[in-house]
Amino acid sequence: LLSVAKRTGAAIPHIVKVAASLKAMRRPPSRQAFLQKVRREVEALTLPPPKGGWSEYYKDCFPSFSPSEEWTTKEHSVRQALLDSRPGSVLDIGSNVDWYSQLAALLGCRVVAIDTDEGCVAQLYRDIKKKNLPILPLVMDFRAPSPGYGLGNLAALPATARLKCDMVMALALVHHLVFKQHLNFEQIIAGLSIFSTRWLLVEFIPREDMYVRDWWSERYSWYNLENFVAVLRRHFHRVESYASFPDPRVLLLCEKKGTN
Ligand SMILES: C[S@@+](CC[C@H](N)C(=O)[O-])C[C@H]1O[C@@H](n2cnc3c(N)ncnc32)[C@H](O)[C@@H]1O
Repeated sequence: LLSVAKRTGAAIPHIVKVAASLKAMRRPPSRQAFLQKVRREVEALTLPPPKGGWSEYYKDCFPSFSPSEEWTTKEHSVRQALLDSRPGSVLDIGSNVDWYSQLAALLGCRVVAIDTDEGCVAQLYRDIKKKNLPILPLVMDFRAPSPGYGLGNLAALPATARLKCDMVMALALVHHLVFKQHLNFEQIIAGLSIFSTRWLLVEFIPREDMYVRDWWSERYSWYNLENFVAVLRRHFHRVESYASFPDPRVLLLCEKKGTN
């Protein structure tokens, strides 16, 4: 200190102060400080306003969460499937602004909800913040799960590990993945199965459905419930069906072998 003071002519307390701040700058930030910084940055983000499109999906129909006669068969069946399986955690893929994620949270599940539509995810975020529900809404494309990061993925695990849940829900999604995003049943079910430790609740929208009817052509001759269930059985040992809405949509609750 004396030699630096002599050379620079600075007072010793000033040199001590500068040395301390230089040392602090060299020290890597603690994990806690890093996470606090990330939290501040994330909380400062402005959410995109709803843009129409998918965020209008539930516009006229977001029923209360107590079972009632106003509920559709699908709403009753999803509730029943959740009560029959009682997952601790649920990953809702293609969640939209999502009534079903909120239903699962109110039945005691921790929920991660993913969708490609930023407007929907922002709307869901605002809603669950108000209601204080245990739901983490994320923008992510099922076809491109976020990869791991860093040496040995130690900085961040890939989404397939980080977001793994007891149950994966994929409601009114498969027909979009087939007809609009050109995936086959094996790719879809293998992709859904990766995220699930035990159950999959998936909805199948058959060829007679009003949307699928318009999208269907001979090249999709393999698109039927029988083939879908055959692929499900390669990944899950138990497949049970529940009625959905509108008829003849069907919900399939699948369970992996050796998980009970
Ligand atoms: C018909 S809505 C279904 C909403 C809700 N799951 C239900 O059953 O009422 C389909 C949702 O899937 C989302 N989606 C479509 N392709 C997706 C993908 N590859 N990854 C994640 N979400 C997707 C859309 O943005 C849309 O919100």
